Amino acid sequence: MRKSPILITCPKGIPPFLKQELTALNFPVLSEHVAAVGTEGTFDDALRLNLRLRTAHRVLFELQEFSAKNADELYGLVAAINWEAYIPEDGYVCVTSSVENPSIRDARFATLKCKDAIVDRIKEKQGRRPDSGPDRGRSVVHLYWKDDRGVVYLDTSGEPLSRRGYRKIPLEAPMQETLAAAVALATRWDGRGAFINPMCGSGTIAIEAAMITLDRAPGILRTNFGFMHVKGFNEALWREFREEARKESRKSLEGRIIATDIDPEAVEAARKNATTAGVEHLIEFGVCDFSDTPVPDGGGVVVMNPAYGERMGEIAKLEETYKRIGDFLKQKCKGYTGYVFTGNPGLAKKISLKPKLSFPFFNSGIECRLLEYDLYEGTRKIKKPKSQPA
Ligand SMILES: C[S@@+](CC[C@H](N)C(=O)[O-])C[C@H]1O[C@@H](n2cnc3c(N)ncnc32)[C@H](O)[C@@H]1O
Repeated sequence: MRKSPILITCPKGIPPFLKQELTALNFPVLSEHVAAVGTEGTFDDALRLNLRLRTAHRVLFELQEFSAKNADELYGLVAAINWEAYIPEDGYVCVTSSVENPSIRDARFATLKCKDAIVDRIKEKQGRRPDSGPDRGRSVVHLYWKDDRGVVYLDTSGEPLSRRGYRKIPLEAPMQETLAAAVALATRWDGRGAFINPMCGSGTIAIEAAMITLDRAPGILRTNFGFMHVKGFNEALWREFREEARKESRKSLEGRIIATDIDPEAVEAARKNATTAGVEHLIEFGVCDFSDTPVPDGGGVVVMNPAYGERMGEIAKLEETYKRIGDFLKQKCKGYTGYVFTGNPGLAKKISLKPKLSFPFFNSGIECRLLEYDLYEGTRKIKKPKSQPA
């Protein structure tokens, strides 16, 4: 089977974690971008990547690189690809795009040209035109076109991989699963001692930590991926990959995962999400103020994602909360490594602890930091944190 370049997209800030994941799965890292990492593999490899990657959004399998100056040239080049080998004539195709070409004022025009080229080609070869539209639940093609250079990909994920299928109950400001997985990976928790997640909200960080420690494949719950709508998809191999992942996954944990929130509805939602994810029995949930979260002896990590609000009234209240977070970490979490994820550096200063590391992330377009604190005896003066090593 032919190997092809594969581009794996992810949120900004996440490529260092995605690279680690790829290396652990024995895939080469061939390029690194602001919000993507390049590797290579067969179409079947793309199935495995979709099942196993925790920090990826989309696995894009390259079909054709091209050079086109304008939309007519684009149409001709895309229509020359043998789409009838990939997309069923009675199927449905969605074209997504990332376009920066001087001849195109509206990216939607390039997307439309690309879609026309695909369906016209299939009609010519198979006598029938597949349906098309914005639904990413079936065959998805991605067009990348910057200046003269472009690439046409099969999007083997379809819906982004952050949609694992366990978060049924939406709450305010939930963290995306891919970001929560990167945060949990950044803590380097080894499954011993405790993983404590006060202010757990819908439980995403605790659930991702449980799945990582169990080595449970993040894609195991999903029943639909883009690759399933590509002609010749090897269903037997997909079943084999899933079976293999199930067998490799551990059933129990050595350490403890504790997740609490002051809002009973949030804890109820977190519990239900954990049940759907199959990890409810591994997480000890509780309703309490973060400062009353049980902190067992033996050390581990404490991870908090407080709100970082925007309105003035909110900020004043949050200043007090961040100050209390600092007190909690200093007084109750000695011997642990503390982490605070926030999008507001001013509020972070109220913690009054010196961060040892600062991991840059983006959450809904806002630049955020995951700050790491060594929680020794006593307090320390605030100093500028070092950036995270690549
Ligand atoms: C930004 S949300 C956390 C989102 C979470 N990471 C997720 O993925 O859903 C902040 C959470 O802090 C909780 N919270 C606010 N004040 C609290 C307090 N004093 N003690 C405990 N939890 C608190 C809120 O109920 C909310 O669920």
